Amino acid sequence: MRRTTSAVLLSILADTALSQSCPDYSSYAQQRHEPYSSGKYALSYQRPSPSCRTFNSSLIESTIANISAAIADPDLARLFENAYPNTLDTAIKWHGTAASNPAEELTFIITGDIDAMWLRDSTNQLQSYAPLLAASAASADSPLASLYRGAINLQGRYLLTAPFCNSFQAPPESGIAPAHNSAADSDRVVPGYDHSQVFECKYELDSLASFLELSASYWGATKDLDFFAGFHWISAVQAVLATAQAMTTPTYGDDGGVLRSPYTFIRDTTRATETLANDGLGSPVARGTGLVRSAFRPSDDSTIFQFLVPANMMFAGFLGKAAEIVAALEGKGKAPGGLSKEMKSFAGDIRAAITRHGVVSVAGADGGTETVYAYEVDGFGSANVMDDANIPSLLSAPLLGYLDRDDPLYRRTRERILGQNGNPYFMRGPAINAVGGPHVGPGMAWPMASIVRILTSDDDKEIADTLKDLVSTTDGLGLIHESINTFNPSRWTRQWFSWANGLFGQMIIDLHARKPEILKKSFQ
Ligand SMILES: *[C@@H]1O[C@H](CO)[C@@H](O)[C@H](O)[C@H]1NC(C)=O
Ligand SMILES: *[C@@H]1O[C@H](CO)[C@@H](O)[C@H](O)[C@H]1NC(C)=O
Repeated sequence: MRRTTSAVLLSILADTALSQSCPDYSSYAQQRHEPYSSGKYALSYQRPSPSCRTFNSSLIESTIANISAAIADPDLARLFENAYPNTLDTAIKWHGTAASNPAEELTFIITGDIDAMWLRDSTNQLQSYAPLLAASAASADSPLASLYRGAINLQGRYLLTAPFCNSFQAPPESGIAPAHNSAADSDRVVPGYDHSQVFECKYELDSLASFLELSASYWGATKDLDFFAGFHWISAVQAVLATAQAMTTPTYGDDGGVLRSPYTFIRDTTRATETLANDGLGSPVARGTGLVRSAFRPSDDSTIFQFLVPANMMFAGFLGKAAEIVAALEGKGKAPGGLSKEMKSFAGDIRAAITRHGVVSVAGADGGTETVYAYEVDGFGSANVMDDANIPSLLSAPLLGYLDRDDPLYRRTRERILGQNGNPYFMRGPAINAVGGPHVGPGMAWPMASIVRILTSDDDKEIADTLKDLVSTTDGLGLIHESINTFNPSRWTRQWFSWANGLFGQMIIDLHARKPEILKKSFQ
């Protein structure tokens, strides 16, 4: 009896300690917590206690309850419950307003275990909740809408500060000290930047596209034109355009002279993917292609050929969508005349350039040839035929606002990406089969690519098999990891990768709408 009483007392003390200082989620996410789910994988409960969550949303809670009730498999339901709210539960590090204007909201969203805000990750982290933003009545007044506006404003500030960079420090208003990125200590980057504002400065075309995507998503849900007119949004769009235009600069000029590249990057490293060839220039790119260069991929690995096709697809897709916001602002005299036309024509030129330079002929299974999208090209005729798990990927092209998932060229490309003979980074094994990439290396499959596979499939068997891979490989932790060893799922990377978790939830919500019968299956 006495023992029980002291145990209760201890647990009360532990609860009090918890609310005073919340556990570091980096370690919390590596441990199992009861109650476990009742299926054979006995998945841990991984949400922080309510007082330790970084953002509360009743809409998310009711969505989790409703969708979970429609999932028959207890382990799949647990994975959804843990994963979907992960960004709101753990990664909204600060939400406030600008020192210069109390009406300007700011949202600082960390990736998870890395204490900085990536343009790409933060967009994707919020995009998991886009279906809820659209569904909420008077959506511009909802707490989620405020998060979106804050992220768009802060991304805009970042782009006006250092438009070639990919990840950033907390804003001074937050009082959060800048994080030290030891990987960047030896970097020599042109243009230079301030480490107190920038966490890392890898120029990635999809970072620019991410700002446009988040903006287009908020616009689509709210039609909140006053917001886009109110702060620095137009200037940020102009910074995006100027940066992308600059990065159409080819390597050689008309007379053969080497042109000054607007961006160069060198790092002292033993990994080829962490620096650029030719003393920071990257491999040469041809003149007059109409494609935009990207020094790095969405994995933050360097490109082999700088015309990264999926990033160009994403940029073209969201440039076209963001042009609609600009056109609406022009109609009210709130944007420079001609800007939306310039955006649309830039997007159209990139599309034409992808069709002309981004499609290659490869050996087909039947002894003939077939055409597919290349992952990267240089405009001289060289192409890198592969896919990488990180979005934007070729596999994710239908999710980038670029093409339809029934597009025959996309279907052929997809089939090759998901096979051992068409993609050097397709990983196979008894535990999980999925696209990986050089970021973690051969043998490691990325659940993110499994999720994209489901989002781009209409085939019930493919969807169910892929879902089973996901449910069975969380190492009992009930979260989506970055990569998993295809032969041994207890070897994985990144315990706290918020984007992949949110994307998993988004995929389940999509299945709930599209194929509810699959959520009635068992994955035991
Ligand atoms: C969320 O709600 C809990 C109570 O359930 C509270 O303790 C916590 O401070 C709230 N978090 C935020 C960020 O408002
Ligand atoms: C959850 O289901 C209840 C009952 O059907 C419904 O009233 C509510 O709107 C649903 N909430 C969400 C977020 O879908």
